[in-house]
Amino acid sequence: MSTLIKNGRIITADEDYTADIFIENETISLIEKNLTIEADIIIDAKGKLVIPGGIDVHTHLDMPYRGITTSSDDFKSGTIAAAFGGTTTIIDFANQTKGKSLKEGLETWMKKADGKSVIDYSFHMAVTDLVENWQQEMRELANEGITSFKLFTAYPNDLMLDDGSIFKVMSESANLGTLILMHAENGPVIDLIIEQMLSEGKVEPKYHALSRPVAAEAEATYRAIAISEMAGTPLYIVHLTCDDALKKVAEARSKGLPVFAETCPQYLYLSIDDISKPGFEGAKFVFSPPVREKFHQEKLWAGLKSNDLQVAATDHCPFNFKGQKDLGKNDFTKIPNGGAGIENRLHLTFQGGVNEGRFSLNRWVDIISTTPAKLFGLYPQKGNISVGADADIVIWDPNTEHTISAETHHMNCDYSLYEGMKIKGNAETVLSRGEIIIAEDKFKGKTGRGNFVKRRMPVLG
Ligand code: URP
Ligand code: ZN
Ligand code: ZN
Repeated sequence: MSTLIKNGRIITADEDYTADIFIENETISLIEKNLTIEADIIIDAKGKLVIPGGIDVHTHLDMPYRGITTSSDDFKSGTIAAAFGGTTTIIDFANQTKGKSLKEGLETWMKKADGKSVIDYSFHMAVTDLVENWQQEMRELANEGITSFKLFTAYPNDLMLDDGSIFKVMSESANLGTLILMHAENGPVIDLIIEQMLSEGKVEPKYHALSRPVAAEAEATYRAIAISEMAGTPLYIVHLTCDDALKKVAEARSKGLPVFAETCPQYLYLSIDDISKPGFEGAKFVFSPPVREKFHQEKLWAGLKSNDLQVAATDHCPFNFKGQKDLGKNDFTKIPNGGAGIENRLHLTFQGGVNEGRFSLNRWVDIISTTPAKLFGLYPQKGNISVGADADIVIWDPNTEHTISAETHHMNCDYSLYEGMKIKGNAETVLSRGEIIIAEDKFKGKTGRGNFVKRRMPVLG
């Protein structure tokens, strides 16, 4: 099978030029101007941008939530939605159950994805308990291509590790050359604030945000940086929300420490005003860390431009308003934490970043595809348009206009965080390893066609 993409404007993290791309089977085999070559399929991309497929390194598909419910997208619905939005690879989180081995956790998540995912996928391993042989298990997982481990300073008695255990895992990661991801919030302090709020009858959704102050995130971010420095391991802060934490990351980076961070569209667009909506509406905007005051948004956009933030991911973790979010009708602590975003990451960063003039097309490709590929051991196979790379390609129409709505999105969620938002720019045609999986607004692939990708070690450059 061969495909020729003609006349497209190819945008990578550092190039911008017009040429034709010839794909044989799953791989890009030629890039040249005015190619005259026979192909089974010819796509005219004149007037369109041709970019490497998006890579979302933070998703939670089919994720059990505190034994009460499960995130509403599984690996089929979630990855189809991702593909519609121009994402061709995800890295989801496999969680270790306390007292059980890391491998068991990974196997559970491998089974969830196998036969369902329509795009390529991998996992980070969340380490929540230092069971017997945990070091050997980390080594074995790294050899199997799981080259990033997630830790939590939040959620005591559940996912959180104490500082000593964090240091131990980070030290092992330093030995292996893998990357540590951190959910950075001070869990024990937050739990005491929550207890106080509940005792005062403060049960509405907005108290979710008010009980998790920016100082709790900034403190944990700095603590994670300091422990990683002592352990000698690179660190990646997930879902960074506020200027206070961003300053800690920027300071570490200016000292030359290998510290990286992502933010997510919900923190670029949503604020405490949304979670404070009347009635129970605010429950739609309950995720952790929480929405912040509006002024943080521009600081995060600036961080994406300046490279103090390197990645835009989603933390896609959807729950329906009816039947899931409403479990917390009378108590904000019972509202499942998470929101849907896997389909709209490219839309929202293109709109706010490129259309509104905050950063260049190259920078956009960098934060949604190339740097994620490098940091998580997928480059140059993915995150790249070059000869020999996987033909994961998005033909992006920069001029088409659409309105985000739960009525038309493909995520299995009965509301949209961005309902009514107007976007200019959309994924017109999406190829995953050379196969057209989105065209004419339809999903054209087969369920389960996605492959598990064995990742290499991070490239920190
Ligand atoms: O609220 C969120 N973010 N839920 C998903 C789990 C996490 O902490 O990333
Ligand atoms: Zn998290
Ligand atoms: Zn998450």
